[in-house]
Amino acid sequence: MTSTSCYIRTRRYERAMAWLHIVSQSLLFRLLAAVVATNLIIWTYKNRIPRDFAHPSLPFVQPKNVTVTTEKPNNISKRILFYTSWFGKIPWPLNGPLKLPCPHKCSITYNKNELAFSNAVVFHDSDIDDPRSLKRISESLRRRAQQRWVYYTHENPHNVHNPAPFNGIFNWTVTYRSDSDIPRPYGHYNTLQHGERILNENNTINYAKGKDKLIAWAVSHCGTIRDKVAKKLHEFVPVTVIGKCSNLFNQVSPEVCRRGSPKCSSYLKRFKFYLAFENGMCIDYITEKYWITPFDNNMVPIVLGSNYDSKVAIPGSFINILDFPNMKVFSDYIKYLDKNDTAYNEYFSWKAKFKLDRTAEDRWLCRLCVDLFNDSLPKKVYTNFKAYWGLKSNCYRNKEKIQRILL
Ligand SMILES: *[C@@H]1O[C@H](CO)[C@@H](O)[C@H](O)[C@H]1NC(C)=O
Ligand SMILES: *[C@@H]1O[C@H](CO)[C@@H](O)[C@H](O)[C@H]1NC(C)=O
Ligand SMILES: *[C@@H]1O[C@H](CO)[C@@H](O)[C@H](O)[C@H]1NC(C)=O
Ligand SMILES: *[C@@H]1O[C@H](CO)[C@@H](O)[C@H](O)[C@H]1NC(C)=O
Ligand SMILES: *[C@@H]1O[C@H](CO)[C@@H](O)[C@H](O)[C@H]1NC(C)=O
Ligand SMILES: *[C@@H]1O[C@H](CO)[C@@H](O)[C@H](O)[C@H]1NC(C)=O
Repeated sequence: MTSTSCYIRTRRYERAMAWLHIVSQSLLFRLLAAVVATNLIIWTYKNRIPRDFAHPSLPFVQPKNVTVTTEKPNNISKRILFYTSWFGKIPWPLNGPLKLPCPHKCSITYNKNELAFSNAVVFHDSDIDDPRSLKRISESLRRRAQQRWVYYTHENPHNVHNPAPFNGIFNWTVTYRSDSDIPRPYGHYNTLQHGERILNENNTINYAKGKDKLIAWAVSHCGTIRDKVAKKLHEFVPVTVIGKCSNLFNQVSPEVCRRGSPKCSSYLKRFKFYLAFENGMCIDYITEKYWITPFDNNMVPIVLGSNYDSKVAIPGSFINILDFPNMKVFSDYIKYLDKNDTAYNEYFSWKAKFKLDRTAEDRWLCRLCVDLFNDSLPKKVYTNFKAYWGLKSNCYRNKEKIQRILL
């Protein structure tokens, strides 16, 4: 009985194999295979990681360790889908933000198949290949009512997509603007705790000591209005220009400051002031030009901007050119500070009250996570994204003041 059925099965198997052989030789089958392969290639192409966005002002950051979990979200963990790459890279360079003390748990995924289950869907502006596709995805998905679509960028509106196609798409924004739903500033400061204040109480460091140079400016993106301001300043006091734009000032960029050179830092420490001019005059746009380079090298930042208030910058830590009536008066003040160490050191007295917070850039993800758990946050849609993130509503600030300083 068993041997018979086994025999029959063997015969069937042979017949099946012969049939398969004939089919696989047939023209129709080959045609079919070709069609399937072509579709597979097209599908792969369509679903490819968005192309790298060649970008002048942001350095590439090596992606760091990120925990990626695949379990379904539940009421103790929210799911965050990073829908785009980050300058072509997956995973995003999240510097362990979920390892910061974060009161809630969220898991991260890069798998678009989890779109429907995710509590938040994050898009990096520079990696959105086709802004119009978002509306199509949004409509075809019938988005879950509680799902938040999140717009993310470090850039100012000069360097992002035209905001119009994003109308009615995003629920939240993550930008440097302090009124973003989830602010991600380039830097932040905290008030010192009582104990820390005692330690700094009798701070008698002379920050002018060992500084034999006046003003440094590291700049590699020339052609904006700040060049004119720096040139004008250079007519009154020496400005040492480091980087690609030094030739515009008939200078040669100092050899010690070749890209990535650690010696550059000790060179910068010889300067009393640093031009922390941003490449766009946009609300709240204050970058590492203020937060990192001058403070790391004990230089006083000279800024050229509007709202350097206590919300976005450290009180007493900088000099704003736009507070002066003209360049002559400003440069006289710089010369005065150069001669009077006591007055110069007053620009460091903030250190007795405040400290830099280097975790500001990384905290946004925890904040997003916490907000996803906050059921009292209302529904929100950016129906007119341009009103929030358009060039005109953000940038070209202080035009008249800058013109005045250039006279
Ligand atoms: C990533 O993190 C895990 C756990 O914290 C650790 O064991 C692993 O070595 C890390 N990998 C890298 C490449 O840092
Ligand atoms: C969700 O929360 C409720 C009450 O807090 C709890 O009873 C339930 O087990 C939780 N479900 C999951 C999947 O964690
Ligand atoms: C700071 O100076 C004051 C007055 O000279 C002195 O009483 C105080 O003990 C000093 N504090 C520290 C932490 O050295
Ligand atoms: C130097 O600066 C200090 C502090 O601002 C001021 O009190 C002093 O009068 C200045 N000295 C001169 C010579 O201007
Ligand atoms: C939740 O959102 C409400 C409304 O904005 C806010 O007042 C509250 O502080 C938030 N709760 C937490 C835990 O962040
Ligand atoms: C998010 O935005 C969409 C509009 O695209 C809207 O339908 C939805 O209600 C919003 N969700 C929340 C939680 O605000």
